[in-house]
Amino acid sequence: MAFVNIQNLRKTYGDVVAVNDVSLDIEEGEFVSILGPSGSGKTTMLKSIAGFVDPTAGSIVVAGNEMIGLPPEDRNMGLVFQRLALFPHMSVFDNVAFGLRHRENLTEAEMEERVAEILEIVSLPGYEDRNIQNLSGGEQQRVALARVLVLEPDLLLYDEPLSDLDRQLREQMRREIKDLHDRLEITSIYVTHNQREALTLSDRVLVLHEGEKIRYAPPSEIYQDPQSKFVANFVGDSNFVSVTKGQNGTVTFEDDDISLPMHEADADAATDLLYIRPEDITINPPDGERVFSGTVRSTVHLGSVTEYKIEVGGNEFLTTDLGAPQYTEGDSVTVRFEDYGLVEA
Ligand SMILES: Nc1ncnc2c1ncn2[C@@H]1O[C@H](COP(=O)(O)OP(=O)(O)OP(=O)(O)O)[C@@H](O)[C@H]1O
Ligand SMILES: [Mg+2]
Repeated sequence: MAFVNIQNLRKTYGDVVAVNDVSLDIEEGEFVSILGPSGSGKTTMLKSIAGFVDPTAGSIVVAGNEMIGLPPEDRNMGLVFQRLALFPHMSVFDNVAFGLRHRENLTEAEMEERVAEILEIVSLPGYEDRNIQNLSGGEQQRVALARVLVLEPDLLLYDEPLSDLDRQLREQMRREIKDLHDRLEITSIYVTHNQREALTLSDRVLVLHEGEKIRYAPPSEIYQDPQSKFVANFVGDSNFVSVTKGQNGTVTFEDDDISLPMHEADADAATDLLYIRPEDITINPPDGERVFSGTVRSTVHLGSVTEYKIEVGGNEFLTTDLGAPQYTEGDSVTVRFEDYGLVEA
């Protein structure tokens, strides 16, 4: 059995089905993200695992032991939330040592050693006597992590831990969490509605939508083969076009005489919806196949990339290109659809 084995987890609040029969295996040492829009049931799942929510049905087995029925303090899990709940009037040392005092019979000297080790790991060496209130947001995050890590949990649970931080700090902490996981290899579940975090941190991503498990797969697999319109749209951006399938292995855009060769993998797909990623549209390619003429409708410079909307036939396509804008509104261009696929509507 996998290290974490969740079977048919269900939680209802009156008529609201927050989590709808979700099953999930997590191997020891894996980093798994739960990704989904607001209200999709992410926090309810995590709190069920942690023991703060009583599931309506289902089972949660960790390291061979059923968790349902056990109080949170007997589950040996570490939680890191968006609101850190550090004790502001206590020193860094007392915050980190807090759980140790309640859990184990350690001498003061042993405790000091453990805390020093952990502060080293979260890059806060020698911070023991510092006051929580005088730490930066990122430093406070690291204290929150240290407080959890010092207890050597079987499972680390994160609920949107970075969403209160500004963009730069967020990126930095994301890298630190990844680095920490690479070093300590504690099995981790990370709740986020930020696809970038989910894709970059995780071994596997669980995509939730209205309490249901939509996909559970490695990030690259989900990105390259989204299978449904919801995933194609939520994980990365996509353009969608209704198509008709021809006999000769092509798809034709509805209302347009634009035809593209169909991928073999899509030959049997029972759907008429094509998705094209913005980065899979080349503007003004050298002449060749699958090249169509269009008109630039808008240009947005985002720094390292430029986003264009280009009208081709009756459809407008979002495309991205590296670097500063090369084209402006009204320009006539050609485009090539480099890659695309069919998804369930
Ligand atoms: N204690 C509660 N009582 C009633 N309904 C609840 C309760 N907790 C959650 N819900 C409902 O369950 C659904 C899932 O909520 P949940 O907090 O798990 O979503 P989430 O994916 O974490 O969303 P967010 O990204 O906004 O944090 C929502 O419809 C929510 O309103
Ligand atoms: Mg939530």
